[in-house]
Amino acid sequence: MSRERMVTPENITPEEESIQLSLRPKTLAEYIGQKELREKLKVSIDAAKKRDECLEHVLFYGPPGLGKTTLAHIIAAEMKARIFVTSGPALQRTGDLMGILTNLSDNDILFIDEIHRLSPIIEEFLYPAMEDYKVDFVVDKGAFAKVINVPLKKFTLVGATTRAGMLTAPLRDRFGLYYHIDFYPPEDLQEIVTRSSKLLKSEINLESANVIASRSRGTPRIANRLLRRVRDYCDVKGDGKITRELTEVALDSEGIDSAGLDYLDRKMLKIILDYYNGGPVGIEALGATLNEEVDTLVDMVEPYLLKIGFVQRTKRGRIASSDAAAHLGISLPSNPSQSSLF
Ligand code: ADE
Repeated sequence: MSRERMVTPENITPEEESIQLSLRPKTLAEYIGQKELREKLKVSIDAAKKRDECLEHVLFYGPPGLGKTTLAHIIAAEMKARIFVTSGPALQRTGDLMGILTNLSDNDILFIDEIHRLSPIIEEFLYPAMEDYKVDFVVDKGAFAKVINVPLKKFTLVGATTRAGMLTAPLRDRFGLYYHIDFYPPEDLQEIVTRSSKLLKSEINLESANVIASRSRGTPRIANRLLRRVRDYCDVKGDGKITRELTEVALDSEGIDSAGLDYLDRKMLKIILDYYNGGPVGIEALGATLNEEVDTLVDMVEPYLLKIGFVQRTKRGRIASSDAAAHLGISLPSNPSQSSLF
């Protein structure tokens, strides 16, 4: 990877993480946006509480930075339960997972981020834990191997993934509640920025909050990060008040353009347009030309470009749209190989 991306919702420093945490809504009532999801989740939580049962297992899927982890913590707070946090790649051995599962109490939440990256062995180990609240643990080896059946408390597994398509059907089917989190519209992001600036004790007007919202790629985590950069800029270059002019200069100086795109988005679009004549180009070839991991492009870069119609996925690869060319001031190359794509 070449440079750290301002708009990448991942890879944050510990200081940033602690500010992010302080800005996170703690309850469903504080949560802005995703109205339908919030309403459905509230019904399920209220029903579980009324029946004095644990909540069914929940799966959140959608691009990074949209609130999957926040929602897991909110579920724990609403259920007045403890939460244990881990991730697919961190769970290497069944023994690790066994240790976590056997320490859970009734109603506890186990949050597994990047659940699509669980190894098949760990995944299979989870099936009976999710379905029947028990695990089959193998002790000893070869002829002495024995399966011990260990009962577990009634816990809730909350899984998060950026790639629902990469989950196996047996794992997906074991979640009773299944929610897609979509990019936020600018109105919701503006409200989030206004709320966050209050928490940061920074004065912001509606216009400036709007500029930040419109450059945040539909992503609250990015909106909050841009807000902090703008706030720094206004503290140093102005009198601390966040104005529209300073907001625009601050974001321009960070390389975030009017559509919220950064150098990597623009580089990807330019390469498709200039180098591959507008596409189609396979994602592997794009990764190699950009010197970026394919996973970075698929998880962090292209979802928003797809959402705003700057990139389209076809069976023969990615193509850049005329809107993308216009945004970059490039004339769209005439490309006969695109005629058979749709
Ligand atoms: N901060 C980050 N995401 C948020 C959300 N959805 N609502 C309120 N504040 C937030």
